[in-house]
Amino acid sequence: MNSKYITTPIYYVNGSPHIGHAHTSIMGDILKRFSMMQGVSTLYSTGTDEHGQKIQQVIEQSGQSADDFLAAQAKQFRDLFDRCNVSYDIFVRTTDAGHKKLVQEVLQDLYDRGLIRKKEYTGLYCVGCEQFKTEGELDEQGRCKDHLTLPQKQTETNYFFGLEEHRQWLIDWLKGDDNLIQPESYRREILGMLTEPLEDLCISRPKSRVWHGIELPFDSDFVSYVWFDALLNYVSNIGVGHNRNFDYWWNNVTHIMAKDIIKTHIIYWPIMLKAAGLKPPKQYRIHGYWVGEGGQKMSKSLGNVVDPNEVIDHLGVDALRYYLTKGMGGNDAQISKDLIEATYNTDLANNIGNLHSRVLKFVEKRFDGKVPDAPVITDADRELQQYVAETARQIMDTVDLVTLPDAVKSILQMADRLNTHYNDAEPWKLAKDDSVRDRFLSVCYVMLDCLQMVFRVLYPIIPETAGKALVSIGVAAPGNRPEKVEFAPGTLQQGSSLGPIENLFPRIQ
Ligand code: MSP
Repeated sequence: MNSKYITTPIYYVNGSPHIGHAHTSIMGDILKRFSMMQGVSTLYSTGTDEHGQKIQQVIEQSGQSADDFLAAQAKQFRDLFDRCNVSYDIFVRTTDAGHKKLVQEVLQDLYDRGLIRKKEYTGLYCVGCEQFKTEGELDEQGRCKDHLTLPQKQTETNYFFGLEEHRQWLIDWLKGDDNLIQPESYRREILGMLTEPLEDLCISRPKSRVWHGIELPFDSDFVSYVWFDALLNYVSNIGVGHNRNFDYWWNNVTHIMAKDIIKTHIIYWPIMLKAAGLKPPKQYRIHGYWVGEGGQKMSKSLGNVVDPNEVIDHLGVDALRYYLTKGMGGNDAQISKDLIEATYNTDLANNIGNLHSRVLKFVEKRFDGKVPDAPVITDADRELQQYVAETARQIMDTVDLVTLPDAVKSILQMADRLNTHYNDAEPWKLAKDDSVRDRFLSVCYVMLDCLQMVFRVLYPIIPETAGKALVSIGVAAPGNRPEKVEFAPGTLQQGSSLGPIENLFPRIQ
């Protein structure tokens, strides 16, 4: 398969973007960059979810027009993602005209085919989740488990879309592909939800209560339910019905998200797609939640909120990207300014950054800014080069959202081994003895050759600094075209010019 379409959730704009939003969009970016380096043409979307009751409430409180308020909020998300070097191809806003049109087309089509029915319903609605909750989804005090607020009882006439008739198909589909959902535990969680009959999905809201949404094309007293609208961004982005390339991207879509929204994505969404005559998604990649140090939820009152912009101001964007990548697998993980700074110092400043600067500065002085020849390669050199190439290849072959922390660990091990090799080889001593000049050249060449492989495989994770490191070694950083990167010993061109050498990660006291 030579195309890949990666999506993040689109984020609610009722507040400012936070570390969790930055996390998912950075992870999508990293997966996109790896995918391009595998030679796969990759499309990547992120964006903002701008309709619904929750956002209506903040628009009303803001005293601004909806358009002005939403544009300013969406800009905050876009600005943060730009600062985070998120190389999205599409930044969707659900208030975009093209998206609205598609949502209305899908609604009209389902309605015309008798798949949408009007009825009265009483349920417990959590505005935070923008979802009706079943008793089993509430805690012992009857509160939403995510928002710890009591849902509101609502009786309303609305439009509904039947899910139960698709339940068995959904179960079979989920069981039929072991690689569909990672980590596997989330597939089990969803299959657990599917042991009970599925209630009809309420896909409308009366305008008397929610005016801020996409009007139903067949009843102007109602707007679309925000999740029905939001999920469709994944297909409106690539122009379903309007774009000949639709299948090219849709055939291989990966949805990434945190564990909070798997029900909407893995139960409602494939059923909506099936009803609309479209294939279900190819992959779901789920991560956990960032929580404060000690495992507490981040909150302003506890003062443990980590502001991504502050981290970037203090330590640079790659300190943030690196911490997020190393620390988060499928489960919850802890974050604080102190933890980020400590990891920055240990891994980036003292290990990777220090290795880069000691080797590059040394070599630059000795060889007039050129990559030396390698006349005497020993078995130990060859073994080191092969180990680095093999490790980098292995990372490229197995990289996935859930395995990213393992990739970082392998990279750190490579850096450790290079540091040790360099210490053992003692090139500063060889430099003083002309009779071992050939050996001296070779030690330096091998270090540079290995370093360029390390920085190429680090590039998707920390593109800004790895890019600078590659330039310093005289190697072009991966561009933004899909190009398969090969890792093999000896690919660094002898005699080529080194670039400017910067201290990649100055140590923070
Ligand atoms: N608008 C819906 C999604 C619609 S997608 C068709 C929504 N928005 S949200 O603003 O609440 O974003 C939820 C997503 O933000 C999570 O799934 C995750 O990707 C990210 N995160 C929000 N808080 C997070 C953490 N504390 N930690 C990690 N990621 C988190 O749900």
